[in-house]
Amino acid sequence: MSDPIRHYLQFSDLNAADYAYLFGRAALIKKKFKAYEKHQPLTDRTLAMIFEKASTRTRVSFEAGMYQLGGSVVNLTTEGSQMGRAEPIEDSAKVISRMVDLVMIRTFEQTKIERFAQHSRVPVINGLTNEFHPCQILADVFTFIEHRGSIAGKTVAWVGDGNNMANTWLQASEILGFKVHVSTPRGYEVDQSIAGIRSPDSYRVFSDPLQACAGADLVTTDVWTSMGFEAENAARQTAFTDWCVDEDMMRAAKPDALFMHCLPAHRGEEVTAEVIDGPQSVVWDEAENRMHVQKALMEYLLLGRLA
Ligand code: CP
Ligand code: NVA
Repeated sequence: MSDPIRHYLQFSDLNAADYAYLFGRAALIKKKFKAYEKHQPLTDRTLAMIFEKASTRTRVSFEAGMYQLGGSVVNLTTEGSQMGRAEPIEDSAKVISRMVDLVMIRTFEQTKIERFAQHSRVPVINGLTNEFHPCQILADVFTFIEHRGSIAGKTVAWVGDGNNMANTWLQASEILGFKVHVSTPRGYEVDQSIAGIRSPDSYRVFSDPLQACAGADLVTTDVWTSMGFEAENAARQTAFTDWCVDEDMMRAAKPDALFMHCLPAHRGEEVTAEVIDGPQSVVWDEAENRMHVQKALMEYLLLGRLA
């Protein structure tokens, strides 16, 4: 019997040993990229990307990354494909996965990507759903390791919405052994059952965002209104006013604390310009690292561990 297909639908689809391998591999792949050294283990392989929501980083990082690995890319959107004309997701999965080697999907409900994966002959990668953004946290943890070493035992302060990014940080904390201090406005809390974590041990909830940042090794946030929640924008603008990462919050964190944001950012809303453009911010490394970690991920899902 052939090996089961390995999908990456949420952070918990891989374990600590897989992540140790991937972080090492991403470092090697990044080094080769910087040295203009060819690394093409996916020659003749094709990635299909399906975007049901907008993207800059995910689109560029997967597309450039796959070409650099020697493969090619097909880009689909809801409006430009039959998915926008109600072709069942199961039928789309059966058809697309007969023609390509790997699929990346950005969509709404997590159940949608799960249904696609159930009917796919090839690995499926979550490029963001309402519930999770595993490729982003893969890049964020890799970026932390590059700057500060292992994230095990460290504290990450999450300031803002209890959204897909927050859920994925919580999953990562259980697997990689760090703590998350979560501060959200009332009504926008994280939900442990949606986040899909086993116990509340790896995170602590704070009503005051400044207290959540106290002693943190990393302070991170995200937009107040995620894609798909635009109808709530006015209410969110009011509710989130105090959840803006500013210099006071960074001062409450450890002196060498890093600041991260998955981007796109709104200066003056969830973060001040002083913080995101300041010395503790590593947001550009974070964005670039999407490509390096996803190259390692695509290689791993298709070829397993190498060397
Ligand atoms: N961080 C992120 O996923 O960015 P895009 O929405 O531009 O892909
Ligand atoms: N939480 C944001 C992340 C964007 C990359 C969203 O889902 O829109």
